[in-house]
Amino acid sequence: MKREEIRRQENIRAPEGRVGVLIPGIGGAVSTTFVAGVELIRRGIGEPIGSLTQLGTIRLGKRYEHRAPRIKDFVPLADVNDLVFGGWDIYDANLYEAAKYARVLSGDHLESVRDFLSSIKPMPAVFDQRFVRNLDGSHIKKGTNLRELVDAVKEDIEDFCKKNNVSRCIMIWCGSTEVYMKPDKVHQSLPEFLQALEDNDSRIAPSMIYAVAALEMGIPYINGAPNLTVDIPALIELACQNKVPIAGKDFKTGQTLMKTIIAPGLKARMLGLEGWYSTNILGNRDGLVLDDKDSFKTKEESKLSVLDYILQPHLYPSLYRNYYHKVTINYYPPRGDNKEGWDCIDIFGWLGYPMHIKVDFECRDSILAAPLCLDLVLFMDLAQRANMSGIQEWLSFYFKSPMHKENLYPEHDLFIQLMKLKNTLRYLMGEEQITHFGLDYYMNSDE
Ligand SMILES: NC(=O)c1ccc[n+]([C@@H]2O[C@H](COP(=O)([O-])OP(=O)(O)OC[C@H]3O[C@@H](n4cnc5c(N)ncnc54)[C@H](O)[C@@H]3O)[C@@H](O)[C@H]2O)c1
Repeated sequence: MKREEIRRQENIRAPEGRVGVLIPGIGGAVSTTFVAGVELIRRGIGEPIGSLTQLGTIRLGKRYEHRAPRIKDFVPLADVNDLVFGGWDIYDANLYEAAKYARVLSGDHLESVRDFLSSIKPMPAVFDQRFVRNLDGSHIKKGTNLRELVDAVKEDIEDFCKKNNVSRCIMIWCGSTEVYMKPDKVHQSLPEFLQALEDNDSRIAPSMIYAVAALEMGIPYINGAPNLTVDIPALIELACQNKVPIAGKDFKTGQTLMKTIIAPGLKARMLGLEGWYSTNILGNRDGLVLDDKDSFKTKEESKLSVLDYILQPHLYPSLYRNYYHKVTINYYPPRGDNKEGWDCIDIFGWLGYPMHIKVDFECRDSILAAPLCLDLVLFMDLAQRANMSGIQEWLSFYFKSPMHKENLYPEHDLFIQLMKLKNTLRYLMGEEQITHFGLDYYMNSDE
């Protein structure tokens, strides 16, 4: 993406027409909570709590100007009424049945949007049990090679767009966490990757099939799971070549959200860390998938990297060189989607005296994830209309393992991420960047 290619202010294409939101894993807890939630909000039954695009404001100019419009009034975002939902799942249950199974939203909420949810039926999925071992649905596409499967997904998208009179689409992966994969030779360049599709290469995961279909059709791709998917040189190349934005990985909710709030505070005050023990109990289908050690490994990598990047032990060896960090997730069905995450944080202060912090977060995973889905869809649509392509690092705010350029390290600090996001919006709209410098208010003063 070249600086001069980015459209700013009045050159950003207007958000006209309906936006198709294409969701692999549409029958899951996050997806159904997101889709049902948007409809409840549209019908005036619920509030979009947790959504920066719907509730957030942005300060503009100097503090004495008192300019703080709502983000959705400042940047040209699509309206929630223009979103149309479709997607794929390995189970054929319609979204009402799937949402009931997920047990996130109350019966009252589900009944109020039953007609809407029942009308959305998943399309047959691209699935391979080698990548998600603990699930075995039967609502699955067949193809003689992976290229055929890519083409089948593209056909689904074309049909969906025609049927729903959609002017543009965004794809957001809310499917399961796939087994841990390291980038391999076939992932390194686009020609090799495209050949590997024809050759049915076992190193191409189902999530990559959806992503290729989207990118080949010029549709932005968001990765809500820690899966490798578009975080490989071949698909970054495809995104750049087709001028499509991509973003990921792994929605930042629950325990990692807390970690990226607390850790920057400890570092800001130069408090040391001896150990951070994190454990969770989780009983939904995501918990079942993560009960497989190779899917958990993908999640673990995503969760573990956060602290090192925030605390920078190489810069502060006396504070952070030897801290012990452990993350576990235990599948415990009685809790369903209502995860409980415990953190035991052993810190030290002045002269090395120890102190302890305990966090017990009784959260609701999908309630935290749904507003992120909404924001990401709306911001990625904005990015596309502003001609931004490739990795959208300014959306790191939403991810546990933000994608980043090869020679950069990811930014994990939630507050820096928010500043980065808002400054990107100011940049797009031709407003001054806010650095929080502040001394300028006191300089050149007559007093
Ligand atoms: N809930 C959160 O707070 C949160 C946070 C970060 C990341 N995530 C990630 O988001 C994803 C969804 O989480 P969830 O709680 O909704 O899980 P879930 O198990 O309820 O939903 C996942 C859905 O994906 C479907 N699926 C699996 N493989 C598929 C494929 N190849 N094609 C189409 N559908 C497929 C499953 O059948 C299931 O319905 C997971 O990867 C999870 O790790 C969730």
